[in-house]
Amino acid sequence: MAKERVLTGITTTGTPHLGNYVGAIRPAIEASRNPALDSFFFLADYHALIKCHDPKLVQQSTREIAATWLALGLDTDNTTFYRQSDVPEIMELCWVLTCLTAKGLMNRAHAYKAAVQANEQAGEDADKGIMMGLFSYPVLMAADILMFNGKRIPVGKDQIQHVEMARDIAQKFNHTFKTSLFDMPEAVVDDTVAVLGGLDGRKMSKSYNNTIPLFSTEKKLQKNINKIKTNLLEPGDAKNTDDSTVFEIWQAFASPEQVVYMREQYAQGIGWGQAKKELAALINDEIGQARLRYDELMLNGDFIEQELQKGAAKARGYAAELLSKVREAVGIIPIAK
Ligand code: TRP
Repeated sequence: MAKERVLTGITTTGTPHLGNYVGAIRPAIEASRNPALDSFFFLADYHALIKCHDPKLVQQSTREIAATWLALGLDTDNTTFYRQSDVPEIMELCWVLTCLTAKGLMNRAHAYKAAVQANEQAGEDADKGIMMGLFSYPVLMAADILMFNGKRIPVGKDQIQHVEMARDIAQKFNHTFKTSLFDMPEAVVDDTVAVLGGLDGRKMSKSYNNTIPLFSTEKKLQKNINKIKTNLLEPGDAKNTDDSTVFEIWQAFASPEQVVYMREQYAQGIGWGQAKKELAALINDEIGQARLRYDELMLNGDFIEQELQKGAAKARGYAAELLSKVREAVGIIPIAK
């Protein structure tokens, strides 16, 4: 039986944080070890340009994200791990798909609509500051997915609409050119993985500036954890686990026994300082070894680059073949004799 193809991208605009790790990276690395799955994971660096025009940041983020995935033990033989910009076929496909995508479909994309709404609320011109990259971003995402006939697309809830749009675009292509070149992708949202709260209790996210970086020094990790907002209960006061970000993060790293243990500690009135100390130690247990590898990798750009080139070669093999079929389907072929 053909292996099922799992594909997902990571936009290279930030430093990986605990929320990324628990929600996306850890499950993806587990999938990378599952021989029944054929995983494609890529650094979406052209997506980064949609929201970031700081070349240093894009470059740095690409390095950090690649080093993070490798340090955590991504199996690059059993998966295809690549950088979007190393596969120019994706950009070519993106144009073909752009020519088949209704503007009206893009008008409905959440990210674009939110930007328009923000302008309107501010009394500005609806399109102020909105670039074509943001507007047609779902087409690039469709190209990322369809280029490899990705079937299962693990994403956060905010990305479901984009995967649905990729389906629409695939259907339009297949129908227009009477082919079945593209499979229909499906968004996979894993409800069993935790969405972590950040320092202020809102969802941990770069856009809220409330993240805890995954790999900093042990000391900085503790410092960051100490910044998590808690209530004013004193040591000795029983505490509620339900509204506690510290407990939420604990749960994401703990074994079932450790969850029971911390529940008891809360009931018995563990002090926040102590709970935070134990939380940092728990996280360290899981990522301590990987942190050492990460620090080494960050100093070894050549190795990271080599791994990415290995992935790009694999990815391009597949992409080139599919792209030549796409070109043929649309009539972009050599002149007949
Ligand atoms: N847009 C996605 C995000 O911001 C990242 C991404 C780019 C992606 N291309 C993709 C995810 C293709 C899945 C499939 O999270």
